[in-house]
Amino acid sequence: MASTLAPAPKRIAMLCSGNGSNFKALYQHIKDKKPAAEIALCLSNRSACGAMVFASSVGIETVHLSEKQFATEEAFGRAMLDALQSHRIDYVFLAGYLKKMPTGVVAAYRGRMLNIHPALLPKFGGEGMYGMRVHEAVIAAGETESGATIHFVDEGYDTGEIFLQRRVPVLATDTAASLANKVLAAEHLLYAEALEKLLAS
Ligand code: GRF
Repeated sequence: MASTLAPAPKRIAMLCSGNGSNFKALYQHIKDKKPAAEIALCLSNRSACGAMVFASSVGIETVHLSEKQFATEEAFGRAMLDALQSHRIDYVFLAGYLKKMPTGVVAAYRGRMLNIHPALLPKFGGEGMYGMRVHEAVIAAGETESGATIHFVDEGYDTGEIFLQRRVPVLATDTAASLANKVLAAEHLLYAEALEKLLAS
């Protein structure tokens, strides 16, 4: 007799250092739309950041790992990989994770690790381009559009293959702060789209 068992839901780890608004948006999408996926872990370098507090409040496991706890990047990478593998993680989603990923983890999750960036890569990315600096640079450059990018993570800063983008207009009246709000609203739709695209591939 043919098996009618549904495939096991894909297990996602969210890596965050801040508020976790992208994490919350994806959590809500999964709760509402019930794709074959679940957020199984929140991993952070900051034990009390918004993302970790939210994860605990909804019963998602948390792991606090900081490179400061380890003598070498390699040891830190091994500990992170252990945490991901012991939670049987299929996909790693970086959402405001402000530390560089250890190379061992990048290699182990190549093609299964995504990052979200608040601009239209390859423009306005790279080391040091995060937070309000990105939006200030977009305004200073006189761009007429910006947006959000989800890309695969490789060994560089914001250099991996682009997976999805959403565009927003930049108006003459926009400030870095108003642009940041518009881009963040676009971001909140993008990890849900990325998950659906991954599940369909
Ligand atoms: C987002 O703007 C994301 O693009 C960037 O960090 C921010 C995280 O925001 N990488 P949040 O923690 O999801 O609210």
